[in-house]
Amino acid sequence: MKIAIAADHGGYKLKEEIKPYIESLGHTVTDFGTYSEDSVDYPDYAAPCARAVVSGEMDRGIVICGTGIGISIAANKIKGVRCALCTDPVMARLTREHNDANMLAMGARIIGGELARGIVKAFLETDFSNGKRHMDRINKITELERAK
Ligand code: RB5
Repeated sequence: MKIAIAADHGGYKLKEEIKPYIESLGHTVTDFGTYSEDSVDYPDYAAPCARAVVSGEMDRGIVICGTGIGISIAANKIKGVRCALCTDPVMARLTREHNDANMLAMGARIIGGELARGIVKAFLETDFSNGKRHMDRINKITELERAK
């Protein structure tokens, strides 16, 4: 798959650590920045990464900040994004199975590299269940976007 990745300064190091791991799983990575630990604003990196996912240019997106909270909130403002902040591989598996999440957020100040790799693997390797009840709920989320 084509994976878009982005981080702020708080997530920069984990982004750099995770990129070769994603490639080792057989995916291609496009890096939307940031490219150093200089202070930046996470919405500026979440938005282009998220737009690349909803446009279909990229298959999935991964965003990282200090907590994962700010960058996930920002990504979820882009219509069509379902970005899940995950702190363990079970959450990553379930958000793929139940929510068909197209973006993953992680907090570099919350989790370490080994845990992040487990989360990323689960996120990238789990298919949506296609269960009717889950599809109905996702459709209701899409309706909420339209109602805004
Ligand atoms: C940046 O200092 C920090 O606020 C950011 O990385 C993130 O944790 C916000 O949610």
